[in-house]
Amino acid sequence: MTIEPMTRILKADQSAAAAAARCLAAGGLVGFPTETVYGLGADACNGQAIARLYEAKGRPAFNPLICHVRDSAAAARLGVFDAAAARLAAALWPGPLTLVVPKRPDGGVAELATAGLATIALRIPDHPVAHAILAEFGKPVVAPSANRSGHVSSTTAGHVLADLGGRIDLIIDGGPTPVGVESTIVACLDRPLLLRPGGLPRAEIERALGHALAEACPHPKPPPRAGEGKEGAEDGAAPMAPGQLASHYAPRAALRLDALSVRAGEALLAFGPVLPPGAAGAARVLNLSPGGDLIEAAANLFSHLRALDAPGVSMIAVMPVPHQGLGEAINDRLRRGQAPRT
Ligand code: TXA
Ligand code: MG
Repeated sequence: MTIEPMTRILKADQSAAAAAARCLAAGGLVGFPTETVYGLGADACNGQAIARLYEAKGRPAFNPLICHVRDSAAAARLGVFDAAAARLAAALWPGPLTLVVPKRPDGGVAELATAGLATIALRIPDHPVAHAILAEFGKPVVAPSANRSGHVSSTTAGHVLADLGGRIDLIIDGGPTPVGVESTIVACLDRPLLLRPGGLPRAEIERALGHALAEACPHPKPPPRAGEGKEGAEDGAAPMAPGQLASHYAPRAALRLDALSVRAGEALLAFGPVLPPGAAGAARVLNLSPGGDLIEAAANLFSHLRALDAPGVSMIAVMPVPHQGLGEAINDRLRRGQAPRT
């Protein structure tokens, strides 16, 4: 399915929620209200739909996305909740709180949704329209804020249309969002850590926890006021402390980028129909997209890297990936994967 040139807009009601669910099931992109800001939703289990989502937003890099679920049972199928996470979820969900927890490998969420990380960001939104869509769809929905990369988050359907009209399939208009700033993000991996200030005040989180929250960086920015939160390089999240969460997925094997041939012992991450000299002798070969389609390549990037990163493989040769469209984000991730481990 390709992105339709026309973006449909429906007033929120039960039939609109059903239309949104059908659109998501078909791999489409749906703008919908949550209590914080409008989200741009895609099926969390469909890597190609998520690749199109990054393209529609014009994100130059793959940021991990928040998975929206309808209830805590659905959340528990995707992530592992320690005592602190369980306490926060019980006290504050549904609501403007996102919890980052270890990802269950069998949860079915596409690797691209979490940018290949071993953790997953989860949230149960407190908005009747978001809830109706999640209930109709019955599966997790990834949704970054529904704005072009570098623009402010959208708090009305009109903002979504202005930013993403013609690039997404459907917008469900549920009126202005009540909170107006993005969710507060707390990681529960070790001790609970504030990653992004947002719509849920820190004091409420600390009250539910029974103690103070650690911060991912010493001086997090104050939460933006409604409509002011310009989306920066990391999309508003506080920079994550080195060694805690910053390490995006990086293969254990080294990457040799823009490889024009395959050397003895190397695995090959291919792109396009024509394999380079030496490919027949490669330890393993996986192709991001034999047809040279960048959306397919993005959807396969993290799972292919993981599959090639097997014991006995110390180097992965990566064929050149064109730099246009999603190629920019693919190359960004490959370059980071190539950086020396610390
Ligand atoms: O209120 C919100 O949170 C809105 C609504 C639509 O739910 N969504 C939103 O998504 O603001 P987005 O993509 O604009 O911001 C999500 C933030 C990003 O900064 C991303 O880096 C962070 O969440 N994030 C997602 N998964 C993560 C993970 N596993 N570890 C650390 N940070 C994560
Ligand atoms: Mg955002």
